[in-house]
Amino acid sequence: MEETKKRMLSGIKPTGKLTLGNYIGAIKQFITYQDEYEMYIFIADLHSLTLPIDPKELRENTKDLISVYLACGLDPEKVVLFKQSDVSEHAELGYVMTCNSNMGELSRMTQYKDKSSKLGSNESIPTGLYIYPTLMAADILLYDADYVPVGVDQKQHVELTRDLAIRFNSRYSDTFKVPTPITAKTGAKIASLANPEKKMSKSESDKGTIYLLDDLNINRKKIMSAVTDSDNTICYDPINKPGISNLLTIMSSLTNRSVEEIANEYNGQGYGTFKKAVADVVINELEILQNKVNEIKKSGMIEKVLEDGANKARYLARKKLSKVYRKIGIN
Ligand code: AMP
Ligand code: TRP
Repeated sequence: MEETKKRMLSGIKPTGKLTLGNYIGAIKQFITYQDEYEMYIFIADLHSLTLPIDPKELRENTKDLISVYLACGLDPEKVVLFKQSDVSEHAELGYVMTCNSNMGELSRMTQYKDKSSKLGSNESIPTGLYIYPTLMAADILLYDADYVPVGVDQKQHVELTRDLAIRFNSRYSDTFKVPTPITAKTGAKIASLANPEKKMSKSESDKGTIYLLDDLNINRKKIMSAVTDSDNTICYDPINKPGISNLLTIMSSLTNRSVEEIANEYNGQGYGTFKKAVADVVINELEILQNKVNEIKKSGMIEKVLEDGANKARYLARKKLSKVYRKIGIN
């Protein structure tokens, strides 16, 4: 008999444009899991509201994100793909989780501390930023997810989710599965091309960030101008040669070859030749991706995929939420 598959769930916020870091560190990882696990992948649009965002931009980012999910090969026959706001149980259970959390534990969250400290001294801290992890806990606990693949920065939120699940279970009897975070193997962290000591991100620097849907010539130029070092040997050494190591990591992730094998092939050929090779690989992959994204946007399939996904997700979410309401005495 076929063993039942473990369930995996993850989401990405449609905040800002998608980067090569998101692609290699998150989306490509999801693809590798889709046969082995029962997967739920969603667009965390409610999470995008924690800091001010323009409605038009949010709408566009959402469409880009679902198109990229599909263009990369997430198969809606295998994966439940949906939008968080289509399943209102997320917000409802989020409220219950907020009531079961305390200010001390939310104040200790690194992301909250980082993001709130970056606000200007006369800006007030949005409450949504503070309760962000309780909504994220609801996202995960609604579906009894066994595993949650996330970036290192999100691991703490999954750990808090575990604490909240254990607390709820002991207070009201067994209700939630306690999830396990999965962080990608080392090597899956892509650095900024302009500042290879830092993570490639929307907020780091435009010059160092490859946006998946940007003009290909601009992206090629960014790779050709990637910051490296001056000793002209190509080898993987993240401490002393972060720029070259980052390019090796990017090429390795996109070609499924090891960094050593690539370093051996290009060593002695000079950084210019190597950068051009990396640019060719990246641009080729992005060109294919962008063509598929455009086809998907034109095809009209997005609405149908999201509707089917929301219906499937809602089925589990409703069951779980009514169980929760029963236990806490609300129905
Ligand atoms: P974010 O864009 O920071 O909300 O992240 C969405 C997902 O993409 C998370 O799972 C991150 O771990 C992943 N991610 C973002 N930037 C990078 C990066 N530079 N390298 C690897 N993974 C990343
Ligand atoms: N907080 C995650 C991020 O910023 C996105 C997210 C929201 C998420 N809910 C989730 C990830 C549930 C995994 C599981 O990247």
